[in-house]
Amino acid sequence: MVGRDDELDRLRELVSGPQSRVAVVAGEPGVGKSRLVQELLAGLPPVTTVLVGQADPGALGRPFELLLDAVAEREGAAAERLGQLTDPSHSLVERLHIGLEIVRSLTDQGRAVLVFEDLHWADSESIALFERIADLPGGSRVLIGTYRPEELTRRNPVAELLGRLERRHSISHLRLERFTLADTSAFLTAATGSTPSYRAAVALHKRTGGNPFFLEELLKAGGDDLDLDKLWQSPLPWSLAEALRQQVDDLDPALRRIVEAAAVLGRKVPFDLLAAVTRVPEDDLIAVLRELVERGLLIELGEDEFGFRHALTREAIADQMLGRQRRRLHELALENLLASGSTDMALVAHHAKGAGRYDDLVAAARRGCESYLAIGSAYQALVLAEDGLCEVPEDLELLAGAARGAWLAGLTDDATRYAQRWRAAARTPDERAAALQMLIRLAWEDRRRTEMDALTDEIRQVIDELPHGPHRARAMATVAQAYMLRMRTADAVAWADKTAAIAEELGLSEVRLAAKVEKGSALAMVRRAAGAHARRGGEGGVRGAGGRRVLPGPGAPGHAGGRLGGGDHRARGGAPARPRHAAHQPGRGLPRLLPVRPAAGGR
Ligand SMILES: Nc1ncnc2c1ncn2[C@@H]1O[C@H](COP(=O)(O)OP(=O)(O)OP(=O)(O)O)[C@@H](O)[C@H]1O
Ligand SMILES: [Mg+2]
Repeated sequence: MVGRDDELDRLRELVSGPQSRVAVVAGEPGVGKSRLVQELLAGLPPVTTVLVGQADPGALGRPFELLLDAVAEREGAAAERLGQLTDPSHSLVERLHIGLEIVRSLTDQGRAVLVFEDLHWADSESIALFERIADLPGGSRVLIGTYRPEELTRRNPVAELLGRLERRHSISHLRLERFTLADTSAFLTAATGSTPSYRAAVALHKRTGGNPFFLEELLKAGGDDLDLDKLWQSPLPWSLAEALRQQVDDLDPALRRIVEAAAVLGRKVPFDLLAAVTRVPEDDLIAVLRELVERGLLIELGEDEFGFRHALTREAIADQMLGRQRRRLHELALENLLASGSTDMALVAHHAKGAGRYDDLVAAARRGCESYLAIGSAYQALVLAEDGLCEVPEDLELLAGAARGAWLAGLTDDATRYAQRWRAAARTPDERAAALQMLIRLAWEDRRRTEMDALTDEIRQVIDELPHGPHRARAMATVAQAYMLRMRTADAVAWADKTAAIAEELGLSEVRLAAKVEKGSALAMVRRAAGAHARRGGEGGVRGAGGRRVLPGPGAPGHAGGRLGGGDHRARGGAPARPRHAAHQPGRGLPRLLPVRPAAGGR
């Protein structure tokens, strides 16, 4: 490896110390993040436990993909435990726990190094797990994550993770820069076996900007008997994409066809899918793949699974194909997935989008969003819903899914935008009520109190239009909750009682329970506030917002209209806390009164 001495030393220091440590390595594509980590791993004592997981580019991924990838071939990681990681009957919290247990069981003996590669592509569960591993007490683990900073968007879960880690841990943040001219020269010396002329080094350094991957690809263009002085004087590609394109252009058409199909199919290309899409007989395909592996373009990732030696090659090849050609390949992949009854809706949506088959895209987005929400994969649900909404911007089911996904992923602004669109697109009172329930919740969390009150008034009007039935009961429960949160005790109690009665009549046990809890919470707040007042030497009562005295204790609800101020109970330490993470449990945890499946739009 050329250069990177300081960075390698820092990582080696972390590994040689007795404590658990965290490091993140950032840098542009091809700059050498993976290479640095490989160099570290290659120098570790053989007793060290090493786990390396790689995120999939472009795919939403299975939950916990990075851990699954890291432990895929390890004995000891019980298959049953791994299966539970993706089993939707366990809540996300439970699955995180299982993931941690797996990590712990594999890494609690002696030194262990865990690497999560390309966090910017990781599914949100893997990112949550990364954070939890960083917090694991005991052991002697070094946790390393790599990422491309330019791939981080405001919403990418890893952006938040990095912020949190920086605050909570003494993490080592390594930023890899491009090669200097001296590094480039050393790289060329290592690659060719002789020192390049100054002019050749400068020319190649300028052309590649010192990006090692680009340098490597440029050298490949020079062929087997590479002469640097001849190479730099001949016309050189201007970009990495151009350098890669040249290599593909040189391929025999049969090889080229396979390479291009593989590039469209993704990072991991199953042999069978490639055979189906290219319609090449098995034996011929084996021969072609062998040649592509020998040329260093593809690598064998596992049994019957192939991939590109480098993600950048795949990206460049897919980008340079004709749109029509890409579409056709996506179409074939889509047909194959649909025919085999694939349940990977993110993948189905990806190929449907590439194929321009928008009905299939919307159907997969709806199904995928719902199933991701059901297993607590909020961010993935949001991304899929957004894919579908590009085609059907007013689809209630997708708007509801996007609002819930964004809300559960902690993206309140996005959630509010989608919930507002959901309300605007709603046609019937039950659809409007469902959107308003979400908006009320969001207004509460954002501390937009005046808006919350206005929304509560609005849902009360909608309730008058709703027929007697479950939608009405749920909307009423929302009103009870809103009043409870706003400390309008008497109103909360009255609405909770009305809701409980209807829920009882309709046999809606969940709504009945919710109403009871709202009532209990409202009364508990009064008692707590009164207790605090008494401790401060009060006269056995507390004052409402209007200065009216509200009696504490069981009699409190009798004081109709008594408001304990309009403040935020969280700020005052009043009502029971409702942490957002509780909401990540499938089927539970969504705000108690919000149905898990969209009440509106679910058709
Ligand atoms: N310091 C180095 N010395 C020699 N070769 C290097 C060095 N850094 C990177 N390379 C080579 O450049 C290529 C790209 O490096 P690498 O795959 O590590 O980049 P990366 O930063 O991980 O990129 P990506 O973001 O796409 O994953 C590899 O083939 C690697 O061997
Ligand atoms: Mg890499």
